[in-house]
Amino acid sequence: MNIIITGAPGSGKGTQSELIEKKFKITKISTGDIIRNEIKKKSSIGEKIKHEQQKGLLIKDTIILTLIKKIIKNKSHILFDGFPRTLGQAHFLSINNIKIDYIINITIKKNIILKRLKYRLLDKKSKKIYNLIYNKPKIKNIDDYTGTNLTTRLDDKHGVIKTRLLDYYKNIKNIINYYKNQSNAKIIKIDGNNKINNIFKKIIKNII
Ligand code: AP5
Ligand code: MG
Repeated sequence: MNIIITGAPGSGKGTQSELIEKKFKITKISTGDIIRNEIKKKSSIGEKIKHEQQKGLLIKDTIILTLIKKIIKNKSHILFDGFPRTLGQAHFLSINNIKIDYIINITIKKNIILKRLKYRLLDKKSKKIYNLIYNKPKIKNIDDYTGTNLTTRLDDKHGVIKTRLLDYYKNIKNIINYYKNQSNAKIIKIDGNNKINNIFKKIIKNII
């Protein structure tokens, strides 16, 4: 089973991916996490893309596909979080015979996004996502599992969020239409303006 999870910034892709990964034997691949990792490592790719990423711009397909190629090698049962975001990336999956079974499209109201991202915290090691209001760690600012200090994301700034949102709305219709026209993938629209566990229950109901 291969799944794509998509939705605007802050819609809860990462949060739901954590839960899906835990429940099913599926490999989660988040291009956002991969990119942040490259930047943190200061790899040659990381150095090349850090300015674009911090401005909230999409990274070029050639770079994303180089990173993805390495990671998906010999893997099956993949949950793609935030990938594909362009027709080029969707086409890459098709020509590599990666058949998508489900596309989980989380919808969310714009006014909720800002609040969620303003209070987001994450652990750089475990990649676990928290929220100061909606999804608190057991101990303030400390990851429940690794015990390390939580951080914020550099691209969670008002202006940058605006750019990320524009990119999302520009590309999402093309991606959905691509899969509607060229595959048997089941497209599942999920209302993201709901509690984390309720959203998760709805997702499970649709993919089992
Ligand atoms: P990426 O990391 O994918 O960011 P994004 O798409 O902007 O989405 P987010 O990660 O911000 O939100 P999310 O939907 O995962 O929400 P989360 O679960 O964290 O990409 C970042 C950048 O990398 C891009 O801008 C681009 O530069 C680059 N990039 C990545 N992929 C690329 C690609 N394929 N091609 C080109 N460039 C690419 O939740 C948000 C907050 O809300 C958290 O605090 C969480 O605890 C809370 N929350 C979640 N669900 C709920 C709920 N139901 N109720 C209350 N709070 C909730
Ligand atoms: Mg995410």
